[in-house]
Amino acid sequence: MNVVVTGAAGFIGSHLSEALCASGHHVLGLDSITDYYDPAEKRRNLSVLARLPGFRFEELDLRTADLRSLLDGASVVFHQAGQPGVRMSWGAGFGDYCEHNIKATQCLLEAAKVVATPRFVYASSSSVYGNATSYPTWETDLPSPNSPYGVTKLAAEHLCALYTANWGLPTVSLRYFTVYGPRQRPDMAIRRLADAAVTGSPFQLFGDGRQVRDFTFVSDVVSANLAAGSGDVPPGTVVNIAGGSHAVMADLIEMVGELAGVPVDCRRNPKEAGDVQQTGGAIDRAYELMGWEPRVSLREGLAAQVDWSRSVHMASAVPVA
Ligand SMILES: NC(=O)c1ccc[n+]([C@@H]2O[C@H](COP(=O)([O-])OP(=O)(O)OC[C@H]3O[C@@H](n4cnc5c(N)ncnc54)[C@H](O)[C@@H]3O)[C@@H](O)[C@H]2O)c1
Repeated sequence: MNVVVTGAAGFIGSHLSEALCASGHHVLGLDSITDYYDPAEKRRNLSVLARLPGFRFEELDLRTADLRSLLDGASVVFHQAGQPGVRMSWGAGFGDYCEHNIKATQCLLEAAKVVATPRFVYASSSSVYGNATSYPTWETDLPSPNSPYGVTKLAAEHLCALYTANWGLPTVSLRYFTVYGPRQRPDMAIRRLADAAVTGSPFQLFGDGRQVRDFTFVSDVVSANLAAGSGDVPPGTVVNIAGGSHAVMADLIEMVGELAGVPVDCRRNPKEAGDVQQTGGAIDRAYELMGWEPRVSLREGLAAQVDWSRSVHMASAVPVA
């Protein structure tokens, strides 16, 4: 199959592209390499992908590129591109969130509509739920984002549903719950935690440490995308993709310290605006419609991430001969 992965240079997009190539698909990766975090990390991800048979890359912005010719002939579009993160979405940052999450999605949907893409999978987020009124949270619960980021992710989800309802474009929106693993974005808590543990530097904790997250290992998110891209999920459906590994932040900090072999030096900071106290997704629909369920336990996933952080820091510490 020919498939398109947007955001291919990013954390999740690079893992998904790798898995698709490994299954023998021809992958066209698209990414504009935004500077939300160090572009050198994205270029490193791309250097791994460049070695894979079947992978091709175009550096472009979804808002301005001629997407029709690029999408023509693709069996699935996996739309992972976006401006992530809750904290930067307030104030002047909001414009970028509207542009990269709403406008870019609309441009992509428009092109997919014209070439009649057979399947469009959108990377949505648990942030559409905000501070949910009950846990686990079901897809039928009323979304109520608690951050401007969540508002833009929900808006793009609505756009997907609109293109299904009005143009018959078969979209599926996957609501990811905190994704972690090797190559995780440097702004995310587990990445900062694992880096702090292996380097002995302080970890900046926001909030009281009692916040609960439903963590999802990146390979489980990849398998959810593969299932959504190949299955018979009814067009316009939204599906929770949650790892089922509920953990209190304070316990997570302890677990990472154990895995790294040293307690983490934790520094407390006030809770940041937009952060929710708890996330937790019901995953019955993912199982019923796609046969999907998470496979990686939190301990296994954290061990993989700590190992990855260690290897990155050891590599950067090697003196130049
Ligand atoms: N990581 C998580 O825990 C998580 C949770 C919920 C939802 N998501 C969603 O999953 C997707 C991937 O997240 P990630 O953590 O891999 O982020 P990431 O920042 O590593 O990857 C996103 C990529 O999209 C690219 N991009 C942004 N705007 C673009 C545009 N206009 N044109 C082309 N490329 C553009 C960026 O350069 C980046 O490489 C995002 O849409 C995010 O909102 C992530």
